[in-house]
This record gives sequence, structure tokens and C-alpha cells, in this order.
Amino acid sequence: MRRWIRRLLVVAGVLFVFVLLGALASHRDNLEGPSAKPLPGPTLRASGKANDILIGTAVDDGALRNEPGYRTDLAAQFSVITPENAMKWDALEPERGKLQWAAADRAVDFASDRRIAVRGHTLVWHSQVPAWIADGKLPAAELRQVMLDHISRTMRRYKGRVKTWDVVNEVIGDDGKLRPSVWSDALGSTFIFDAFAAARKADPDARLAINEIGGESIGPKSDTLLRVVKRLKARGLVDEVGFQSHFNLDGDPAGVPDTMKANMERFAAAGVDVAITEFDVSLKEPASDDQLAQQAGVYAELATTCRAVPRCRSITVWGFTDRHSWIPESSPGYGSATLLDDELKPKPAFLAFSRALRAGG
Ligand code: G3I
Repeated sequence: MRRWIRRLLVVAGVLFVFVLLGALASHRDNLEGPSAKPLPGPTLRASGKANDILIGTAVDDGALRNEPGYRTDLAAQFSVITPENAMKWDALEPERGKLQWAAADRAVDFASDRRIAVRGHTLVWHSQVPAWIADGKLPAAELRQVMLDHISRTMRRYKGRVKTWDVVNEVIGDDGKLRPSVWSDALGSTFIFDAFAAARKADPDARLAINEIGGESIGPKSDTLLRVVKRLKARGLVDEVGFQSHFNLDGDPAGVPDTMKANMERFAAAGVDVAITEFDVSLKEPASDDQLAQQAGVYAELATTCRAVPRCRSITVWGFTDRHSWIPESSPGYGSATLLDDELKPKPAFLAFSRALRAGG
């Protein structure tokens, strides 16, 4: 009699533990949002690998912290990540000497734990600079030293864990002249070469990139970019050029510029790799099925363009879900720029991009 009561109690106890674990798991999902359903077909990482192209995405720190579905897709689909904002100077040192690494560490740890590469973005830029620098009150010599110290300190912290750095970002204006900024106003164009020299010294094993917006086609901006790259290359200071590739369907460029392949080829001929670093295709809201189909065509076309240039090593999308895209805030009335919708469901662009990546591979 007592033996079967004991057995009954054991079974009841085991059942209770299972029920409790199930309740906790669903509570966590409810708290943090739904887990992603597996996306269809081969992963983007696998599709890119078919033609030796690394596929990456910008990573939103809040989503990385709070959304299990986002983390699931991030870990499954991508072979390289770029912290969207966490490594910018205003995030790392909002007040002089007050360093805050937590968000950047979170992204690097997430990637390192999963053998995902990291692209450090960005050491020197005219935007998202902390106020104590942006106010322009530092004397030129001190500003230069502050820049050199920031580069060294940041790169040394992630030495061996961040393989590629956007050393300078968006330093050339649309007119092909040096972009006015707190850096160029005080230091002229020498800040570019000083930044790369400091970066090379801080981590000789890192790949150093110059990243640019709107330089995808042949024109005054990319002409100047090519001259800068050749000077950096002559000093052994640059390894890669990043073409951000923020496209849309109605602006200029509408979709992939006709001269983008030839443009990337001339940089490759100068002895550097090329990368697509911030790809998205923004649509006028509400996005129609026809716009989504056109968007899919642009994603496929860029994949095909990168495949056609042997030194095009990676394509990074600037966010992989519309839920965390920068577009709506920066361009009111526009959005739907990424591969997955707000609910992490694939849009036509996801399969079109994946298919184009692995074609011929
Ligand atoms: O961190 C503050 C937060 O404390 C505050 O409460 C909140 C209030 O709105 O703002 C937060 O800062 C925001 C920051 O992203 C971090 O989330 C800024 O307002 C917002 O303007 C900023 O936007 C970023 C933008 O760069 C700034 O220019 C976008 O997320 C980011 O996707 C975008 O990325 C850049 C690349 O780095 C370089 N190429 C162009 C690309 C688009 O501008």
C-alpha cells in the first residue's frame, strides 16, 4: 500500500516540475515577445557562403537584450554583425573620461559566443560625437590627441575580437570635397591618415576600412574616395572600402546604381576589398505588394552585383527587421526597408536575396 503511494507522489512531483517549467517558459516569452518561427530555406549565411560572401546585419542593442526571437534569427542567419550604435563615440564616452562599454561588450560577447564576426562601427565620424567634442571648443592639438587615444583605447579593448573596423565614416561630401566636420575644420584631411595610422598601430591584425554613404556610383564623391584610398593603400593603412548602400525606389539612386559594379571594380583594382556595409531599401508607406516586389528585385540585384566582383567580401544589411529599422525615424513616411516585417516574418526580399546570393555557387 505504502509503496504505490510513494510511487504516486513521485509521479505527481515530476509532473508538477514539468508544468512549472512550462509556465515559466511561456511567461518569459510573453514578457520578451514571441520566439521566431524558423525562417524558410537555407540561412542567409549559408546562401552567402555558396559564393564566399559574408552576410551580416546591424544589431539593435535593445532587441538583442529583450527579444528572444530577434536573437534566434540573428544567431541563425548571419556570419557578421555590426553594433548599430553601441560602439559610436557618443555611446562609449558621453562625458569626457566617463567610459561605458556594456552595450558594445554585449554585442561582441553575443558574437564571440557564436563564432560570428564583428565589424566595429565607427571610430571617427562627424555624427554621434559626444557634445564635449562636437562643441568644437578643444584646441586642434588636443582634439587630435583625443581622437588618437579614442582609437587606441577602443581597438585595444576588442583586439582579436573585432576583425574589421570602420576607422572613418562619411568623410567626403557629395561635392567630392572633404566633408566639413569638427575633425576636418580643425585638422584638415590629415585626421583621416592619422586615424588610420593609429588604428594600424592599435591592432595590426585588424582589417581597416573607410566607410562611405552615397559613394556607390561613379561620380565626384567616389572619385575623391578612390584618391584617398590610393594614398592610404600606399602607406599600408587600408584594407577595405565600405559602400553603405542605403537605397530606395524613387530617389536618386533608385535601386542599385548602374555604375556600382564598375565603381567597386576600380577600388578592387586599387588593391582593396570592397564591402556592402549598410544595405536597405526604403519604401514609401504604406508599402504595396508591387513596391515589395520591386524591393525584392533590388535586394537580388545587389547580391548579384557583389557576386560579380571577386573582392566584394561581405554584404551587411542595416537591420534585418522593419521592427528596428532607422528609416521611419530619419525619413518620416518611409519604412519597410528590411528583409523581415515587424513580426519577423519574411518579406519577398528575403527569399529573393537568399536565392540571388547562392545562384551559381
Ligand atoms: O541613445 C539615445 C537615448 O538615450 C535617447 O533616449 C533616445 C531618444 O530618442 O535617442 C537615443 O539616441 C538615438 C541613437 O540612434 C541610438 O539609438 C538617436 O536619437 C538616433 O538619431 C540615432 O539614430 C541612428 C543614426 O545612425 C544616427 O545618425 C540610427 O539608429 C542608426 O541606424 C544610424 O546609422 C547610421 C550609420 O551609423 C552610419 N551611416 C548612416 C546610418 C544612418 O544614419
